[in-house]
Amino acid sequence: MTSHWENNYGGAVRRLNAIEKKLAELDWTTAPVFMVNGLKREELIAMNSVVLHEVYFESLGASEPGTALKAQVDQDFGGLDEWAAQFAAMGKALAGGSGWVLLCWNPHDEKLLNIRAADHTHNLAGATPILALDMYEHSYHMDFGAQAGAYVDAVMENLNLTAASAKLEALKEQ
Ligand SMILES: [Fe+2]
Repeated sequence: MTSHWENNYGGAVRRLNAIEKKLAELDWTTAPVFMVNGLKREELIAMNSVVLHEVYFESLGASEPGTALKAQVDQDFGGLDEWAAQFAAMGKALAGGSGWVLLCWNPHDEKLLNIRAADHTHNLAGATPILALDMYEHSYHMDFGAQAGAYVDAVMENLNLTAASAKLEALKEQ
């Protein structure tokens, strides 16, 4: 967890800062397209890595779901157990690969949805993640080796559902 915070999250923050510096220095009228494409692509990757890692670390710390989350999950998934089974299965399905599983509030249809993100740049347009499961190997290889499923089970037992509920409540008030 410390390595994950310092090397992966911290690395994304440092990378984002370096990219922003390069972008600020860029002469947009003469810059070659590979510089424009490369820096803007890397900016999106680094920025979303920072955001999603923050959601991930905020997702950890076992707590009971607040009433807002419980009611919405009942409505959209048929219950907390049903939602958790889907979320965990999506995480285990990413084992051996990498990506994110995100529980997102989708204001488009005012529902919660589990999103599969194959990398940092994938999310549903307009949707906001309130829980994140990091399925990059760096999340689990130190503690679980190749046992990605055991890591997913451990995270599922340790989700901060009170915090997720507060985030959902704030999003629904917007
Ligand atoms: Fe990570």
